[in-house]
Amino acid sequence: MTTPTSNQRTRVLTGITTTGTPHLGNYVGAIRPTVQASLNPATQGFYFLADYHALIKCDDPVRIQRSTLEIAASWIAAGLDPDRVMFYRQSDIPEIPELTWFLTCVTGKGVLNRAHAYKASVDKNNLAGNDPDADVSAGLFMYPVLMGADILMFKAHKVPVGRDQIQHIEMARDMASSFNHLYGEHLVLPEAVIEESVALLPGLDGRKMSKSYDNTIPLFSSSAQLKKLISGIVTDSRAPCEPKDTEGSALFQIYQAFASAEETAALAKAYADGIGWGDAKQILFERIDREVAPMRAQYEELINNPAKVDAILLKGAAKARELATPLIQELRHAVGLRALASTANAKAPSTSKAARAAAPSFKQYREKDGHFYFKLVDSQGRVLLQSLGFASPKEAGLAIGQLQQNDAKALAEMGAQVSLGEGVAASEATSALEVLRAELAEKAKSKA
Ligand code: TRP
Repeated sequence: MTTPTSNQRTRVLTGITTTGTPHLGNYVGAIRPTVQASLNPATQGFYFLADYHALIKCDDPVRIQRSTLEIAASWIAAGLDPDRVMFYRQSDIPEIPELTWFLTCVTGKGVLNRAHAYKASVDKNNLAGNDPDADVSAGLFMYPVLMGADILMFKAHKVPVGRDQIQHIEMARDMASSFNHLYGEHLVLPEAVIEESVALLPGLDGRKMSKSYDNTIPLFSSSAQLKKLISGIVTDSRAPCEPKDTEGSALFQIYQAFASAEETAALAKAYADGIGWGDAKQILFERIDREVAPMRAQYEELINNPAKVDAILLKGAAKARELATPLIQELRHAVGLRALASTANAKAPSTSKAARAAAPSFKQYREKDGHFYFKLVDSQGRVLLQSLGFASPKEAGLAIGQLQQNDAKALAEMGAQVSLGEGVAASEATSALEVLRAELAEKAKSKA
């Protein structure tokens, strides 16, 4: 078997905002599975410290600097190999803010108005009777565009994220397709990957472990501190010898995230046999410490040698920029920021810009009811077709695919699920679908 070359490998990219100290929840939910996944030879990993994003939430420079160091040291100590993957700091890649601007110019303001994080702030202000944009920075508003630039800069195929970030990936897709639509096929449309099987870790108080609940256990603290924190995990008041419930026991759930199936079964049995909480906590402490102790030395070493971490990150940035610099050059040229003497063809590679700008397009989105919708809009934004809700993005995507391939026939078969926009004739919608089908065929041809 040959190893795929870097061009064939699936690019997996994710960012970590540098505002906090990694805790066991981050370890179990993100660091450990990501390090594991980074070993897959069929993929190329891009992992970066999203420190520009951190500025949106945090105005404490010392905290940003410290968090960047702690997160970088944690990931490396947990086994991320900077020689194998791209591991860099966002702010070391000046091409990212430049791409952010290009994307800003192809993103509808209305789209950003609908971003969850921004909308939540506006809703809160409205509820409190404040100005809707009170205390909302333009940084928060622009968050999805910066994130889009992170992703599109490296032509990432897959972006593993939490559920709260799916909307951002969909926006990044829309930005890429708008850009490509206007300037030719330069950017890759990314896909969100949601890891369903990853454990959600409860914190000290039994709620989800999260900095905002102040219930976390740091991934790297001394053995003694770890033990002390574990002794503070909530339990019920059952005495030693009384059988205990594993259901709803934070201690048990945390143990499960570290232990093998056999170890977990043994603790379940001990619960049934009435193990005392002190003993159960000791078992949990020993199990976690067994996993963390071997990484602790390297973590300490890095934390105490920040210059070493700087060097690793700068080397990563240099590697990443080998990809970013040529792409930004290509994009600058594509949008017209180019030598005045350049005689390059103004046309984008396939259809002419005018034809493409006039082309209709599908927009997919999710509504408050939790369902997935799409609409077909023409170049002026007029709605030609409107779907009802689908249970999953996949079903919505399948319907779009059918419409694109079989236009009139598929439209008839979909019945009430897809209806014509107001004042739109069926012939208008079907000819828009034909245009799209022709575009697809052309794209397939140019790829072949
Ligand atoms: N917004 C992400 C979060 O809060 C962090 C992030 C920034 C990110 N840029 C990204 C994640 C690009 C994936 C891809 O979790």
